[in-house]
Amino acid sequence: MSNDRDEAFAPTSAASTPGQEWWRTAVIYQIYPRSFADASGDGIGDLPGITARLDSLAGLGVDAIWLSPFYTSPQKDAGYDVADYCDVDPLFGTLADFDEMTARAHELDIRVIVDLVPNHSSDQHRWFQEALAAPAGSVERDRYIFRDGAGADGELPPNNWQSVFGGPAWTRVPDGQWYLHLFDSSQPDFNWDNRIVRDEFLDILRFWLDREVDGFRVDVAHGMIKADGLPDYTPPAEGGSMGGGTATLEPGISDEANDDPPYWAQEGVHEIYREWRKLLDGYAGERILAAEAWVDPLPKVAKWVRPDEMHQAFNFAYLETPWEASALRSVIDNSLDAFSAVGAPSTWVLSNHDVVRHASRLALTAENLQGHGVGPKTPGLPDPVVGLRRARAATALMLALPGSAYIYQGEELGLPEAINLPDEVRQDPTWFRTNGERYGRDGCRVPLPWEASAPAYGFSETGASWLPQPTDWATYARDLQNGVPDSTLELYRSALHQRREHGLGLGEVEWLDGFGPEVVALRTGGVTVVANTGADPIALPEGAVLLASSPLEGNDLPGDTTVWLS
Ligand code: NOJ
Repeated sequence: MSNDRDEAFAPTSAASTPGQEWWRTAVIYQIYPRSFADASGDGIGDLPGITARLDSLAGLGVDAIWLSPFYTSPQKDAGYDVADYCDVDPLFGTLADFDEMTARAHELDIRVIVDLVPNHSSDQHRWFQEALAAPAGSVERDRYIFRDGAGADGELPPNNWQSVFGGPAWTRVPDGQWYLHLFDSSQPDFNWDNRIVRDEFLDILRFWLDREVDGFRVDVAHGMIKADGLPDYTPPAEGGSMGGGTATLEPGISDEANDDPPYWAQEGVHEIYREWRKLLDGYAGERILAAEAWVDPLPKVAKWVRPDEMHQAFNFAYLETPWEASALRSVIDNSLDAFSAVGAPSTWVLSNHDVVRHASRLALTAENLQGHGVGPKTPGLPDPVVGLRRARAATALMLALPGSAYIYQGEELGLPEAINLPDEVRQDPTWFRTNGERYGRDGCRVPLPWEASAPAYGFSETGASWLPQPTDWATYARDLQNGVPDSTLELYRSALHQRREHGLGLGEVEWLDGFGPEVVALRTGGVTVVANTGADPIALPEGAVLLASSPLEGNDLPGDTTVWLS
C-alpha cells in the first residue's frame, strides 16, 4: 500500500510556525507490541514484527505510532514493570531492532513515541534489588518508598492505601519494613522527592531522544509525587479501570473540583515535567510529552499541558462519555475550552489497552461496565452489531474534531472485546489480585488478525498467540477488509485521508442546531459533521457526502450513523 503524503518528512527540521506543530493535529496509532505482529514465532509480538508491518500503517495514514513498553521486564504487568529502562526485552528483540524500526518508520513519515514508566519500576530493577539488600534508612531504600509499619510491632501497613489492581498498596519485606506499590506488588513506587531518581530519568529521556524518538507517552503522569506524611485515604467506590477519579461511563464528567487522593495529582509533579520539557526543547524536531493523567475535571487535566509542561494529555473524559448527543456535545465543548485556555490542542481517544474496546463498550450501559472489564459472566453482554455500528459512528465523529486523535491497534478493523477468554488464559494482574472478581484488560489485548486464512490469522507464522484469538476473528482480518469499500478499515483510511485534505484537526467547532436532541451536528474546517446517536433516521442537510459511517437511506441519516458533508 503506498503512502500518499506529499510533504517531505524531516523529523529534525526547524520548528514549525507556532500553532501549526505536527502534534496539534496528529493521528497517533497505539501499538501494543505483544499483540501487533510476531516475527519470531513465539506467540508474542515483537519489534521486527512491527517493522515488517509498518507499511500498512503508512497506508492507513497515521502520523505517529506510540509503542507500549518493550523494555527489559519480567512482564508481570505486560511490560509496565520495567527492569531496565535503556534496553529491549529479548521477547521483543534488541536495541538494533528498535533502531531499525524507528528508521523505517521515519522513512514512511511516521513519528515514533515510546512509553515511559516513571511512577514505578519492576521489583527486578537493579535499584530495587539493592534496596532489598540494604538496611532501613539506607540510600538504596530512599530511591523507593519504604516505611515502618503501623501497629505495636509494625505488623500493619503504614496507611490504608489500596492498589489500583486491588488489595493493599503495601508489601512487607523480611526485615519488617513495607514498600509502597500503587499497582502490583512487583511494581514498587519510586521516591520522586529524591534528586537521584530525577537525574536518572533525565538520563533515560536523553538515551531515547538520542535514538531519535519523537516523544514519550508518560505512564501514570498524575502519580509520582505523594502527599507529605502519606495520609490515609478512602477512594470512592468505583474508579475507572486505572483508578481515575471518574466512574467509567458516568454521563458528563463532573465539573466540580474533586478532593484529590494523596497519591494522585499532587502539585509537585508539575515541576518534574517542567524540567523534562526544557530537556526536550533542547532537541531539534518537536519532540513531545503526552500525559496519561486520569484526573478530572478537564481544566485540571489541562494543567499537565500548560505551555512549559507537556504537549498533550489523554482526554479520558471523552473516552468515558456514552454515545449520547447531549453528553458528547458538552464533553467536546468542555475539552476545547479547557485545553485552549492553556494554548494546547485537545486530544480525543475511544480505546486503549486498559479499557473495553469501544466496538463493545458503546453497546453496554453504565450498570454493566464499572471499570472492571467484560467477561462471560458480565450481565447484559453487548450486541456486536449495535456495538460496531456505534463504534464506526463514534470514530467518524472523533476524527473530525480539532486536535489530535489516538487510535488503538485493531479498532481500525472494528475488533470487539474478546469476552469469552477462558479463565486459565487470563494474565492481567487485576484478575489475580481480585480473585477473578474483575476481569481486567486481557479482552482488549488479544493479538491482531492480519490474514483470514493464515495460522493465528497472520499474527504469527507458527500459529502461536499469547492470548487465544476468538474463532470468529477471521471475519475481521485486515486482508478481507483491504480495498472493500464499506469495511471498517476503509472507513478509517478514508477518514484519515480526508481529515488531512480538509485540514480538520486545526479548525474550530461551530455547533449546528435544529436536528433534535439525539443529534450532534457541527461545522469544522468547511465540513459539516452530523452524528445521529438515536434510533430513528433524520433528514440530511444539503451537501455532498464525503464520508458515512454506515450506508445512508436515500436523503436520510439512519440511527447510530455519522456523516461528513462538504
Ligand atoms: C497505565 C498503563 O496504561 C497500564 O497498562 C498499567 O498497568 C498502569 N499504568 C501501571 O503502569
